[in-house]
Amino acid sequence: MRFTVAIDGPAAAGKGTIARAVAAEFGLAHLDTGLLYRAVGAKGGDPVQAAKELTAADLERPGLRSLEAGQAASKVAVIPEVRAALAAFQRRFARQPGGAVLDGRDIGTVICPEAEVKLYVTASPEMRAHRRWLEVGGDKARVLAEVRERDARDSGRADSPLKAAADALVLDTSEMSIADAVAAAIAAVRARRQGLTTLA
Ligand code: DC
Repeated sequence: MRFTVAIDGPAAAGKGTIARAVAAEFGLAHLDTGLLYRAVGAKGGDPVQAAKELTAADLERPGLRSLEAGQAASKVAVIPEVRAALAAFQRRFARQPGGAVLDGRDIGTVICPEAEVKLYVTASPEMRAHRRWLEVGGDKARVLAEVRERDARDSGRADSPLKAAADALVLDTSEMSIADAVAAAIAAVRARRQGLTTLA
């Protein structure tokens, strides 16, 4: 059955954790699309060429989860030709037989607007910076500044900006434990899968 779960939202909102949990619960393939942009940013040289020639090995490069790699990713992600070069792979992944979960910024709006479930996972910038700081350490004010800078760039770009799809279920995790957020996401996916099975 083709079944796509699109999970979008700003940096450090909990998308990745939710996406992995949903994929494990329902046996779906999972793609962290931010990793594609991080790998392009980290490759150096011409980002359009890097996106066209991206390989699986590029996704294994060490350091892709760092703040610096996140900023570099956000910068190459404003280039329409980079986005176009990565789109076909993401679309094929999304519609693979057996189903898939993709997390990113534009999955429910641009990559897979036909996704059966769309979630928009968000939280206040302060809460997201706090969570990211727990992971990476360092200067907390700098982590918050990075989060705000990335939000502004990801939401303000002309091509495929970060925004909730009109039909997305919004999960604000500012006041929610990650376990509750995961449970809410799993409940939404389960309800949709049951609906589809009943109709079939
Ligand atoms: O999800 P992440 O923090 O790993 O994403 C890194 C950057 O990549 C993010 O700041 C913007 C870009 N990105 C994007 O433009 N579209 C996506 N679908 C995923 C990530």
